[in-house]
Amino acid sequence: MRILLLTHAFNSLTQRLAAELKERGHETSVEFDIADSVTEEAVALFQPALIIAPYLRRAIPESIWSRHVCLIVHPGIVGDRGPSALDWAIENQETEWGVTVLQAQAEMDAGPVWASVTFTMREARKSSLYRHEVTQAASQAVLLALQRFDSGDFVPQAQAAIAARGCQRALMTQAERRIDWQHDNSTTVLRKIGAADGFPGVADTLFDQPCHLFDAWPETTLRGTPGNVIARRETALLRATVDGAVWFGHVKRKGSIKLPATLAFERESQGVAEAPLEGYWRAKAPTWQDIAYEEIGAVGTLHFEFYNGAMSTQQCERLRAALLWARQRPTTVLLLLGGGDFWSNGIHLNVIEAASLNGGSAADESWRNINAMNDLALALITTDAQITIAALGGNCGAGGCFLARACDQVWAREAVLLNPHYKNMGNLYGSEYWTYSLPRRVGLDAARAIMHKREPLTARHAQEIGFSDACLGGDVPTFRAEVAQRAAALASAPDLSARLTEKHETRVRDEAIKPLAAYREEELTQMRRNFYGFDPSYHVARHHFVYKSLASWTPRHLARHRDLNWKADT
Ligand code: COA
Repeated sequence: MRILLLTHAFNSLTQRLAAELKERGHETSVEFDIADSVTEEAVALFQPALIIAPYLRRAIPESIWSRHVCLIVHPGIVGDRGPSALDWAIENQETEWGVTVLQAQAEMDAGPVWASVTFTMREARKSSLYRHEVTQAASQAVLLALQRFDSGDFVPQAQAAIAARGCQRALMTQAERRIDWQHDNSTTVLRKIGAADGFPGVADTLFDQPCHLFDAWPETTLRGTPGNVIARRETALLRATVDGAVWFGHVKRKGSIKLPATLAFERESQGVAEAPLEGYWRAKAPTWQDIAYEEIGAVGTLHFEFYNGAMSTQQCERLRAALLWARQRPTTVLLLLGGGDFWSNGIHLNVIEAASLNGGSAADESWRNINAMNDLALALITTDAQITIAALGGNCGAGGCFLARACDQVWAREAVLLNPHYKNMGNLYGSEYWTYSLPRRVGLDAARAIMHKREPLTARHAQEIGFSDACLGGDVPTFRAEVAQRAAALASAPDLSARLTEKHETRVRDEAIKPLAAYREEELTQMRRNFYGFDPSYHVARHHFVYKSLASWTPRHLARHRDLNWKADT
């Protein structure tokens, strides 16, 4: 079937649907919702049998929905309407929520229902629910709706005819999100910030400056006067509540971008007492800890929970220090678990942008960041006492994919999407030793195609083409349990020392053919051009990315119907 995906952005949900549809043999193309006339043009060019809208911020024009079946993916249960569906579901402590696929009509979210799938709510942030439960339910619901559409005899049900508990809810205002630091307990503060993460955040003040708060974590031992900032740790600040305290990792100051809290308030944070973790890398809970180490038998596990998977220079350096420490432990397998939502999305574009806000150089910070990332990748590639495994429970993008590929094995959860390419960021060449790791896994031609086409890969597809080594099912806890089991089996396998010897010999052979330093130098020569050269594309793309500029056209590699030689054979 020819399906047009009409969307505000090619976000992870849209990517997932595009990949699922492609795997089932459907012909898809993508158009961003820029203007009614542009959508009309796209529909005329592509002549789709069906339009699916996974992520829209405004209504589809009547000129389209009156002539084509348009299926809207709404992140709410049947009957639910409005732009703050998940925010209200969290705030109202719903125990079950869902995704509904409905047909577009004049009134937003009011059309007849083609399919709906429910899920059990998890105590998590909005962005995390969206990336896991909502995305999973949406792909099930869309595939079901597609089957029904294809059958030709399914009649979608009017919402009024379905007994449902969903109802119309208005946009959640900042007044409704407001935190009352003199009354709200930690659970309430966490829920309020969670319902607003990663957008729009909760409007508040810090150090008497207006800002929006994000990325909240519980703290159980430290306490202080409610509302006061009482401690800092690495990039996070701790604020006391009436019954404890809450860390927040990210803040957006008025007129600025979302940044790690201690960077957003760099000067003010200097005066706040540091609360270092006792036992350093050893996992503690519940508190704010972005890097944690656990050890069971001969398996060491490194967690790195970096917000949005973005890794700044300092985070790369700290993770490398943790890795070097973990390498000294008496283990034979080292698991790199990343975070729950993302494994890694590469260098930290917001922190890089921030360097230029204070009169510094974004080019210099990009250079430092990519070198810190490369040092980390090098430490992984040259780990020789352990088999290293990148276990991807969450999505992975750009340099993050090649950081994972620097490990001996990559195991990915089935629902995970990988974007192992850099070009979307202003034609960035990329580093992290990808020119070494990618061709030896997938071959030279496939490596070129991956970089050029810039398509998201499902975990299944990534395994098929040899980019990754295993694809495991389940949600994040189930995946992690299976990863732990497989890692333990590997650590006690009789051929483990033979594997380690083989790994060492392969590395020595590869090094003799072409040293890692040469790969790095070649990649960095290109990156130097991206950062410091005449063509500012990378800086322009990064600026638009961090400021979330509205797209003014759909990238040509997504809008296939706009290819010069595109022809719809009806
Ligand atoms: N640096 C800083 N922030 C990043 C980031 C990075 N490298 N990658 C993602 N983010 C942020 C996004 O700005 C967004 O922030 P928000 O919470 O304020 O909305 C959040 O992470 C989620 O990203 P989003 O694009 O909505 O997620 P997605 O799952 O739909 O898409 C990617 C994933 C990886 C395709 C996309 O985020 C991307 O292209 N990231 C940039 C990767 C990159 O070019 N890195 C630099 C080269 S190594």
